[in-house]
Amino acid sequence: MQITFCHCLEFFSFLALNLVLSECFGAHLKSGSCVSPLMVAWWGNIQLKKHLKDVHLQQVSVRRFASFNLFSIEDQNTEEETGTWVQYRSIFYPKYSVSLRFHNGLLNVKDVLTSFDNTGNVCLWPSEEVLAYYCLKHNEIFRDLAVCELGGGMTCLAGLMVAISADVKEVLLTDGNEKAIKNVNEIITRNQNAGVFKAQKVSSCILRWDNETDVSQLEGHFDIVMCADCLFLDQYRASLVDAIKRLLQPSGKAMVFAPLRGNTLNQFCNLAEKAGFSIQRHENYDEHISNFHSKLKNEEKDTYEENLHYPFLLILTKQR
Ligand SMILES: C[S@@+](CC[C@H](N)C(=O)[O-])C[C@H]1O[C@@H](n2cnc3c(N)ncnc32)[C@H](O)[C@@H]1O
Ligand SMILES: *[C@@H]1O[C@H](CO)[C@@H](O)[C@H](O)[C@H]1NC(C)=O
Repeated sequence: MQITFCHCLEFFSFLALNLVLSECFGAHLKSGSCVSPLMVAWWGNIQLKKHLKDVHLQQVSVRRFASFNLFSIEDQNTEEETGTWVQYRSIFYPKYSVSLRFHNGLLNVKDVLTSFDNTGNVCLWPSEEVLAYYCLKHNEIFRDLAVCELGGGMTCLAGLMVAISADVKEVLLTDGNEKAIKNVNEIITRNQNAGVFKAQKVSSCILRWDNETDVSQLEGHFDIVMCADCLFLDQYRASLVDAIKRLLQPSGKAMVFAPLRGNTLNQFCNLAEKAGFSIQRHENYDEHISNFHSKLKNEEKDTYEENLHYPFLLILTKQR
């Protein structure tokens, strides 16, 4: 592995996790070789099988790269042993904000090495923020519908934004990782107590795309299924397509945001077409995001990598 130095912390964690995951699962690191001193230390720790708490704390509090400037983060000064609560507020629609908890203990060596996928416990990925923003901007499309977020990670920010802004019937927040869902449960409780939900029902559960029981229990239940940055996991891509198809009712639609990440987005589209979806693929779906993307490309050449950071929008509709 070649090591160069730069500043994109979230990306290091992605890279490092992939390295770890590739040991466990034979997955391949798609691209990039940008590594920070922090990550080198981090990787060293993994080798030494030590805990990473401090590094992880730095990861969640330092956001240097490739956020599209969609949310502001206010510290709530409620640092619990288990995590830190922050207020995430939409910059464009500032009346919408939620409390989120970033869980300190979520990422430790044991979890990384034993859990099937911890990518959602590392940070909030730009695609999730873009999906969340897009849902706020178009919140009228959710009226009276049942909505499910898949692979929402430790916050399920996008599903939460639907739940606070839309006259939606039901929002189900899911991920395949148990710890992520524990965290999401606490986030739901806190926001419920604060009375911010507009949705009639907000809940969360573990849902693994490749688990027959998980998927069959909710078969045909949703009008909209959405997910962010879930297409790069080679061994779960086919089950993701299958889960989306089965969870949707016949006239349902899926809303998917993800960067190209090599050929992974294309591979997902191919599988989805084979499964009978028709796909609209949008590169420019929002003026602010397109402009910000151009600006990042010009001004942040060292840290911004279109391939890894710019989310495309896919709308999937069932054909048969
Ligand atoms: C890169 S993360 C994206 C998390 C979040 N959407 C974001 O963008 O911040 C991928 C997520 O997919 C989840 N995941 C991976 N494989 C899965 C599977 N087979 N079933 C359900 N969830 C899975 C992981 O737990 C992780 O939270
Ligand atoms: C599928 O999920 C159920 C609970 O939702 C669990 O009891 C079962 O062990 C899981 N099966 C596999 C193969 O992971």
